[in-house]
Amino acid sequence: MTVSRTFSIIKPDATRRNLTGAVTKMLEDGGLRVVASKRIHMTQAQAEGFYAVHKERPFFGELVEFMVSEPVVVQVLEGENAVLRNREIMGATNPSDADAGTIRKELALSIGENTVHGSDSEENAAIEIAYFFKDEEIVG
Ligand code: PPS
Repeated sequence: MTVSRTFSIIKPDATRRNLTGAVTKMLEDGGLRVVASKRIHMTQAQAEGFYAVHKERPFFGELVEFMVSEPVVVQVLEGENAVLRNREIMGATNPSDADAGTIRKELALSIGENTVHGSDSEENAAIEIAYFFKDEEIVG
């Protein structure tokens, strides 16, 4: 069994609707373990840095504005094939394309207000984890 880690954000639309527990339960029920978690209010600079890869896309400003609008919960998740497993549990970016039973199908409001972020590769997971967490904050 290959245990690995991924990075997750419970986004402002979820914290605003008091869905932190509901989202975490879906992640845990899906076989992932929360090995680090903190609630933060992202700064503009943090959000722009995190999403820098998308800076040329037309929705960049809207995405950053949304991510700084309310607190978020950043998490490190651990489990078998954690990156892939998390993306299965999350569902497609656009909730209208997501499968039934996924977080985005059941809880998301729109393609922008889509409840969760999850790393798209092991390489990016390592980068994203290090962006928000020190090694000693992760307790496996
Ligand atoms: S993905 O999952 O990275 O392949 O999805 P992608 O389509 O590339 O989207 C990247 C992030 O941008 C958000 N997004 C949007 N925000 C606001 N408005 C629109 N139209 C929009 N389209 C995409 C999407 O939720 C992704 O956010 P993260 O946090 O990476 O999941």
